[in-house]
Amino acid sequence: FFILNSFNVCETVLLMKIFVWEKFSHQSKFQTKFYHYGTFPDDFQWGVSSSSYQVEGGWDADGKGPSMWDTFTHTPGTVLNGDTGDVACDSYNRFEEDLYMLRALKVKAYRLSLSWPRLFPNGYRASLNMKGVDYYNRLIDGLIAYNITPMVTLYHWDLPQTLQDINGWDNVDMIDIFNDYCDFCFQTFGDRVKFWMTFNEPYAIAWVGYGLGELPPNVKSPGDAPYRVAHNLLKAHAKAYHTYDEKYRKTQQGLVSISVSSEWFEPLDVNIPREVAAADRALQFQLGWFAHPIFKNGDYPDAMKWQVGNKSELQGLAESRLPTFTEEEKAYIHGTADVFCLNSYTTRMARHVIPRLSTQSYEYDQDLTVQDVSDSHATAKKELRAAAWGLRRLLNWIKEEYGNPEIYITENGVSTDTSKTVDDPDRIFFLKTYIDEALKAHNLDEVRLKGYTAWSLLDSFEWLSGYSVGFGLHHIDFTHPDRPRTPKRSAHLYHQIIRQNGFPLPVEEEPIYGLNHYHRLVDALLAANIKPQVNKTMPPFLNYIVEDLIKSIF
Ligand code: NOJ
Repeated sequence: FFILNSFNVCETVLLMKIFVWEKFSHQSKFQTKFYHYGTFPDDFQWGVSSSSYQVEGGWDADGKGPSMWDTFTHTPGTVLNGDTGDVACDSYNRFEEDLYMLRALKVKAYRLSLSWPRLFPNGYRASLNMKGVDYYNRLIDGLIAYNITPMVTLYHWDLPQTLQDINGWDNVDMIDIFNDYCDFCFQTFGDRVKFWMTFNEPYAIAWVGYGLGELPPNVKSPGDAPYRVAHNLLKAHAKAYHTYDEKYRKTQQGLVSISVSSEWFEPLDVNIPREVAAADRALQFQLGWFAHPIFKNGDYPDAMKWQVGNKSELQGLAESRLPTFTEEEKAYIHGTADVFCLNSYTTRMARHVIPRLSTQSYEYDQDLTVQDVSDSHATAKKELRAAAWGLRRLLNWIKEEYGNPEIYITENGVSTDTSKTVDDPDRIFFLKTYIDEALKAHNLDEVRLKGYTAWSLLDSFEWLSGYSVGFGLHHIDFTHPDRPRTPKRSAHLYHQIIRQNGFPLPVEEEPIYGLNHYHRLVDALLAANIKPQVNKTMPPFLNYIVEDLIKSIF
């Protein structure tokens, strides 16, 4: 079952995707770090994000059933300091306070997730819990009353325990069971919710839950379970999309997508094609695993089919560990997202290696290792170093790879140690630099970026790290029964970015950047009906500034 020949793989990489590394990896440090002033269009959707298990608490309130995260956190020794989501930010009882903060920030959108076991305590529609429906109705109505668009994730990891008991996402029956749950949510909330995401980070569900086994359900089966689970997730996503299409789209007119996640991968050496191919492969295995079938052609990326197929054959298996889709399934999956939703936090370097063949693993299937890039900053989570420039490159790669889709960043943010409260210069630096890279992608590279949703509104239950680190724009005192919320300095900064719709050039900085002069020059030329041309003999850094300036004007 050699599905491809090596020419195909190299060809694809060399012909187009190399373009992003070609364009950016040769930039000087100055060009990479240069601060771009400008604004987003008026309809840019600024938001903040959260998820049910991380903020709600009320783990067994009013008839809610247990999720696999309740089971996990109630097992001693699983989460740092024995923390659980039992109370979390208590948003189940305090969502009015959350609404207050959202209004103060002046966000246009709030990304939240629905807790499946709060709605269906045992996972099935027959167990419907009206108290859960009431809670989400109040929350959604509250958002709408303040003109805040609800962006709703249907599954952000808190699977009803009863469904984990039948093998969770490794069971094909989950496709129909999930569809039934989504159908109910579309029907019940879809008159007001117009932005749906089926899954949050399917990569984490499949690989971290079923390969590494670090997140529930803690299955350590790296060679095959992640591929099977991803296969089911893709089919479940597609089925929910079609349900919306067939039953609700016409009357509700919303959109449906999936929040996929990826870091950016820089090659070890941009001049060595094999290394660029390795970086591309890293993206295909992480992002392309889900995005390629949905946005490209209904099937897994060539690089995955080739790598897993070959390894499986050499390992003496009768068929590839990567399952295949029938032509009918491909047609069913292809095109099942109305916009591209991206979660992204960090940048790493990929490097070509040939690992030993005997271990069957999604990780080894990739023939690469990853390491931190030197030009990055440590954060409270060691695997999430900050390197803002990677975001611009990732957005450009998505644009090239998937035919310039409309993109929403559905998560991006940074953690700080929760012992520090409101003074968070790290987060201010992170938001300024990352959002500026998003702005460059939008204004200079014509990436169709439609929205940015910061992770997160509040410090909240950060999975295995419990409450030791927080991503919030607001601090919460988790030792206090009232869970008091306090805006951090970054909340003020984010508010200002939203108010200004980006980063307009401050008057006092115009002379420093020399842009005032160029602005006037360009204005004068335009007034005289002359299209400015960049003089290529200019010093390279000035050239770059003027090119950007001209692009942002035309
Ligand atoms: C991704 C997840 O979607 C979210 O739940 C988590 O808190 C953030 N990353 C930060 O780790």
